[in-house]
Amino acid sequence: MADADGLRQAAERKGLSFGTAVNITSFRTDPLYRRAVQRECGIVVPENEMKWEYVEPKPGQVTHLGGDEIRDAARADGQRLRGTTLVWHRGMPDWVLAKITRASGERLMRDWIGRIAGRYRGQIESWDTVNEIVDLTGGRSDGLRVTPWLAALGPGYVDLAFHTLREVDPKAAGLWNEDDVCLGADWMEARRTAVLRLLETFLARGVPIRRFGLQSHLNSLVPLDETALRRFLARLAGLGLAVEITELDIDDRAFPADVAARDRAVADLARRYLDVVLDEPAVLNVLTWDIVDMNTWLNESDRRRPDGLPQRSLPLDGAYRRKPLWSAIRDAFAGAPDHGAARARARARAA
Ligand code: G3I
Repeated sequence: MADADGLRQAAERKGLSFGTAVNITSFRTDPLYRRAVQRECGIVVPENEMKWEYVEPKPGQVTHLGGDEIRDAARADGQRLRGTTLVWHRGMPDWVLAKITRASGERLMRDWIGRIAGRYRGQIESWDTVNEIVDLTGGRSDGLRVTPWLAALGPGYVDLAFHTLREVDPKAAGLWNEDDVCLGADWMEARRTAVLRLLETFLARGVPIRRFGLQSHLNSLVPLDETALRRFLARLAGLGLAVEITELDIDDRAFPADVAARDRAVADLARRYLDVVLDEPAVLNVLTWDIVDMNTWLNESDRRRPDGLPQRSLPLDGAYRRKPLWSAIRDAFAGAPDHGAARARARARAA
């Protein structure tokens, strides 16, 4: 593959899309960032600018500027667009939290989804319709996270979110986005089991879930269990779902401080993960959670490395140079089977 080609072309050769969550500040201020996103990505998602906390921080104080800018750039660059996120226990302004009650919760959710999904109708390939809804420490036998939405509306809030999206934008695939279901820890296996049980329940009662998203925040502290991952992906596909890798990055805090050794370890973990993931024909998209190291959320407080060194979690370094992780992703796409049939099936279902 010519080096001029980016991960976009490497993915598209196999009927896949590669992309990233876009940081609005870098997008607006750094031409090298814009160029890197253009060169490497066939799909993008605004990191925060379609979330309620950004769109309407105070009642009636509405802005769609950031989401529109990223949408317009994606359109200009022929990139697909994802949306995040419709219903979540985070990413909402405090004034909304206070209004999620049994009496007004349904209208509040319908109104929000109607406005945000309505604004981008026909432009979004898939929406994170519900986000991070499993929490096995919450005490519920079904494993659903106890959130204001659950407290107000019961488990049916999930049905409401997906049915409302389908009414507002039938072309956008409703996706359940979940974290901590990708690695080999026993507690992650328990989460995978809860997810599959919930999916069977939701799908049996007609909830129009079209895709499942593995956020894929890989962690150097937790081993990869290729067999468990392969089994989980096959079970998701067996339920008729398409699959997306929605927020790939690697928390490198247990890897060496030495940059060359750390980059090799990060690339190795990502390659082993993607080799399993891309073996599953139902997988359509792989997105990283930003594309350049300096923007990673993993340098925030509770995920910082003990030695204080900045994390090297993403495909490009601070000078936008391609790292071993970039090559690992490129090679994983090169070694993958063709996914064109899966995309055709997903399009048929979304129509
Ligand atoms: O832009 C405002 C700024 O004007 C204000 O001064 C500042 C202080 O209040 O807040 C800024 O907004 C913050 C925004 O990030 C941009 O920096 C929000 O408060 C903050 O909540 C938001 O955090 C985001 C977080 O999701 C919650 O929405 C992170 O950037 C984003 O990386 C993170 O992404 C999540 C995924 O959506 C779901 N999976 C986990 C992932 C990492 O937490």
